[in-house]
Amino acid sequence: MFTLENFDIKLETEIIGRNFIYCEEIGSTNTELLSGKQNYKMNGTVLLAEKQLSGKGRKDRTWQSAKGLNLTFSILLTKELISAININHLNFAASLAVVNAIENLFQIKTELKWPNDVLINKKKVAGILTETSVKGSKIERLVIGIGLNLNQVAFQGEFNLPPTSLKLETGDTVDRENILAEILNIFEEHLDELSMNPDNILNDWRSKCKMIGDKISVTDNEIMKTGIFYDIDENGYLLLKHNDIIEKIHFGDVSFI
Ligand code: BTN
Repeated sequence: MFTLENFDIKLETEIIGRNFIYCEEIGSTNTELLSGKQNYKMNGTVLLAEKQLSGKGRKDRTWQSAKGLNLTFSILLTKELISAININHLNFAASLAVVNAIENLFQIKTELKWPNDVLINKKKVAGILTETSVKGSKIERLVIGIGLNLNQVAFQGEFNLPPTSLKLETGDTVDRENILAEILNIFEEHLDELSMNPDNILNDWRSKCKMIGDKISVTDNEIMKTGIFYDIDENGYLLLKHNDIIEKIHFGDVSFI
């Protein structure tokens, strides 16, 4: 049971989450918000679903989450808000908001994995999927979807990275309303920062990504590349150093070797 009053009391934003839509069951919160229906026009609209029937992950994967135990939600940003920022940075602002919220509320160490997985003890606790709808050549709407495992303690299926939840890591049941409000409060602050000083967000992201400097392999379109995770560039692309060259990787899955 998600208690709207408890969420509302904690929400301190001006825009993000002020139009809040709660639903029991839906295909995917990302797909729904991107559809641009009447209820979903307001900048900062947040759609939370207790259960997604076809939750989506990166690279056409699925996102499975047990009903009512975790958080699966999406945030809508319209063209007015995103025109002032580099949209590649939004993934970083969102994943940082998740780690900042977890660390503020639970004093537990988190880590970021490029491009935007949130890990605790090398296991994945949250994933982020950003999607856009375009009109002509212009982005009309952008949706940031966040799946965060909170109170689920068993996971079935095959995973690239072993999944975990905050309950598994802390032993305690998590108050979903509180952490959702915390994430949205921080995300709005990060959005302001992105329009003024995006380097601060990229630097904070770097400091939470322990893989920088390590030997990694990246699978990009079925092709595996190996090298040193040199850095991320100003657009958030991964810079892979191998054979004395630095290659820019736009998409891919990273693993340690
Ligand atoms: C990933 O790690 O592959 C990204 C997972 C993103 C999952 C969230 S859950 C809410 C939103 N709606 C979706 O269909 N996907 C995202």
